[in-house]
Amino acid sequence: MRIAAIVVAAGSGERFGAAKQFLSLGSSSITAHSVAAARSVASFVIVVVPAEYDGRGEGADVVVEGGATRSASVRSGLAHCAGYDAVVIHDAARPLASSDLFHRVVDALGPDVDGAIPGVAVVDTLKMVSGSLPATVLSTVDRDTVVAVQTPQAFRLSALRTAHASGLNATDDAALLEEIGATVIVVAGETSNRKITTPDDLVWAQTQWELA
Ligand code: CTP
Ligand code: MG
Repeated sequence: MRIAAIVVAAGSGERFGAAKQFLSLGSSSITAHSVAAARSVASFVIVVVPAEYDGRGEGADVVVEGGATRSASVRSGLAHCAGYDAVVIHDAARPLASSDLFHRVVDALGPDVDGAIPGVAVVDTLKMVSGSLPATVLSTVDRDTVVAVQTPQAFRLSALRTAHASGLNATDDAALLEEIGATVIVVAGETSNRKITTPDDLVWAQTQWELA
């Protein structure tokens, strides 16, 4: 199976307060770690960066300009995936995803499996509420019926293309495959594969990196 990877690094890092994906973790950037992990499974790696950013130092084979939303940035990368059987999509902001995890999602694809994504158990109790907080509790969600989903996410190229043809936006690619009725399965994710969203997450990642 010919596998390409798209590492999306074109966000503005509003919640972090900076383009977090280009800050350092050890001796390389957060994005460079994500590109290197993607390379463990993909023979071709595309990094998608903001318009004004020169991404040639991140270790990818191709640098492309992103869009206004994460989904639009994925579509920028998808335009360069012709000839591949499967595509792995990874958030640059998850620099601690292991190469094992990349292999796990790719290995789970098959004739009847269009997509494979990592999920981890939710440890908190979950409530359905009436709206933004403060809100009224409506019910308790059975925690065993949900998972928190991560990247890398692997897809058969044909299904991913069909899913993105809608031009819709979602917080992950699996959501767009769900919309077209494609089969997506969840494999075991990694609690260490935390997304860098706020400065606290980077402090945590730096500690993990030093311990490893
Ligand atoms: N991303 C992207 N293009 C966008 C928005 C997001 O490539 N238009 C990427 C980010 O760079 C990140 C990943 O998608 O690697 C996950 O997004 P998120 O963690 O939300 O990052 P940001 O959108 O940059 O952060 P924020 O939502 O706080 O602005
Ligand atoms: Mg975002």
